Amino acid sequence: MSARSGGAERPADRARPVGPALMVIFGGAGDLARRKLLPALCNLREAGLLGDGFGVLATATRPLDDASFREQTREAVCGHLGERFDAETWSWLEERLFYERGELGDSALFERLAERIETLDRKLATAGNALFYLAIPPSLFAPTVEQLAARGLFDEAGGRTRRVIVEKPFGRDLESARALNRALAASLAETQVYRIDHYLGKETVQNMLAFRFANGIFEPVWNRRYVDNVQITVAESLGVGHRARYYEEAGALRDMVPNHLFQLLGYVAMEPPVSFAADAVRDEKGKVFSAIVPFDPEEVLHSTVRGQYGPGAMPDGGRVPGYREEPGIDPASTTETFVALRLAIDNWRWAGVPFYLRTGKRLPRRISEVVVEFRRVPFMMFRETPIDHLSPNRLTLRIQPREGISLHFGAKVPGPSLRLGGVDMNFCYRDQFGEEPATGYETLLYDALRGDATLFQRGDNVEAAWSVVQPILDVWHALSPRDFPNYPAGSHGPEAADELVGREGRRWRTP
Ligand code: BG6
Repeated sequence: MSARSGGAERPADRARPVGPALMVIFGGAGDLARRKLLPALCNLREAGLLGDGFGVLATATRPLDDASFREQTREAVCGHLGERFDAETWSWLEERLFYERGELGDSALFERLAERIETLDRKLATAGNALFYLAIPPSLFAPTVEQLAARGLFDEAGGRTRRVIVEKPFGRDLESARALNRALAASLAETQVYRIDHYLGKETVQNMLAFRFANGIFEPVWNRRYVDNVQITVAESLGVGHRARYYEEAGALRDMVPNHLFQLLGYVAMEPPVSFAADAVRDEKGKVFSAIVPFDPEEVLHSTVRGQYGPGAMPDGGRVPGYREEPGIDPASTTETFVALRLAIDNWRWAGVPFYLRTGKRLPRRISEVVVEFRRVPFMMFRETPIDHLSPNRLTLRIQPREGISLHFGAKVPGPSLRLGGVDMNFCYRDQFGEEPATGYETLLYDALRGDATLFQRGDNVEAAWSVVQPILDVWHALSPRDFPNYPAGSHGPEAADELVGREGRRWRTP
């Protein structure tokens, strides 16, 4: 993450191209590589952020060679970038694209990779630097890393850099997260590991830090004295799609909470770091997770809600099947597709302020946002407007869509009587800065290539997040849900989620 500040400055206005490196993509013929990683490399090149000493070596099981891989990739990248596809940029990348076919269980593949990395290093002048990207199933992370280590491929002798990007999920519970960390630590220094959470690649998420720490006016009220509650919503309108196998095992809690929602929570709740250096930011985020009051079993029953969508109608009128009727899903599945939680952060800044988190599939619209709701004024002198008719001041950080920030406050309705109404002051990214071509992976790849780990998760942060979630997994596992499906597709989730907030005299702020 480069330090960006002031006016309408764009990243590319100040950012410098990354140094030489070879990117080795495991799962290089897969969806992520074709839809996100390679288009992101094109965008980085166009922004002047990739220099000539660069190349990509992809490996996967598909029977391809360099030429057929390039051809297939061209089609995919062209399809993805659409009008933004630039033939000149593509031919630059194409010359630097290579493919090695093989099975990850076959040690001969790693021999061949080691040789090719050396040959390509000389050919492309990548200065011995390599970035390994593990876009493969999690069960293959540890054995792949072990094979690479056994061939000395993580050795940083002579000043070269060797880094590994790992994609989520980082375990499926606390124990497996610890096991994964141990396996990575056996072969790599923590500084060589880049755990991606694509939420941190979103401009609006990064802007949360800029918003909080580059503006003097909000920080003084960003605490228990002024904030009444914080709400974090990541709502999706899509259903489970084609990911039945993964999702049946994961469920909404594992899939979204200890990673994406906790990243948002960390940024909204953390103390100002001493700098934007990776460890300074990650230390502060870690402190937030460890200050979350642990759930005991009773608290799980009281402060968490799970849901599963049944058949229903989406806002456009289209009828959609329930989760249990989706292809590949067990007709008696107890996997949750919705979660709501109430968390407490026991520290000086947040004691007594509830944090409400919710996420779910097949909700009416795709909306991710953080709402900071401020305390009401102590006394209402406007007799024409009862105090409970005036909504409290609210700051909304809209992550997606219509990325931006808005502030809600009371204003006098024009006319002879002193009546108040709620109004919004709005900042919209697109209006201010225009639209940047982005897959969401540009900043993350740029940072990993430069060795800036600020936007990546550190092993101890991952474990701290799982520690919070583990008691919920345990109770939910022990007690099968009896009321699933408990919300129709196209609704805002189960009623119990409204009660979770309602019994404390509050409501979800849904735009
Ligand atoms: C992924 C989850 O990590 O994030 C998906 O596995 C989810 O289930 C997705 O749909 C949401 O990401 P975004 O960027 O669309 O909000």
